[in-house]
Amino acid sequence: MPLGFSWITYDITSDLPGNWQADIRAVAAEADFRDFPCTPVLSREAGNIAHIARGRVYADRVRENLPWLYRFYRGYFLQLAREACAEHVMPALDDRYGVVLNVQRGTEMRFECHVDSNPLTGLLFCTDQPTGAGGELVFGHDPGASDVGAVERECSVIRPHAGHLVFFEGRKYPHYARPLAAESDVRLVAVMNFYTESCPESTRPPELNRHLFGSP
Ligand SMILES: [Fe+2]
Repeated sequence: MPLGFSWITYDITSDLPGNWQADIRAVAAEADFRDFPCTPVLSREAGNIAHIARGRVYADRVRENLPWLYRFYRGYFLQLAREACAEHVMPALDDRYGVVLNVQRGTEMRFECHVDSNPLTGLLFCTDQPTGAGGELVFGHDPGASDVGAVERECSVIRPHAGHLVFFEGRKYPHYARPLAAESDVRLVAVMNFYTESCPESTRPPELNRHLFGSP
């Protein structure tokens, strides 16, 4: 019996700085909001979807404006990632993509359906999305799913809880974040790339960096 998709959740609410949510909200308000073109190699969007609207706070802004988050990525969160993973886990050495924020505002934004290139991903949910509010993280059970509809047909759904840190292996199962139900709603998540010895940072596709940063 092959093992299906699984993830691990740590409730770290009490370990975060007292003002962490307000801190994240303030930085996220200055995110880069626009239509992002679909990602080469990793996208699992239908052919007629060329771009998807969302917000992104880049890693350099996170490091500068949320120094506690940058430190946690390389410290406490790394320690938890190592507990969650059978292999030795390492953070990214390249500061362009270690930890970033994804931001959704209103009902038009969502996060692209894709697979990961890194072997372990950590997400710190920074907002609560109650039942019916949308914004769920959805993993398709079919590794061959090549669009949102196929992912939704059979899937695992993770509802964002502020202060929950989840780890998963996202290379096999396509995943995306659903749009929000209310125009006034916001979804904030910190996204962290981790690597292992069997899948080190050097395996990151150079076309991905060219797409995101204009250089390998
Ligand atoms: Fe992902």
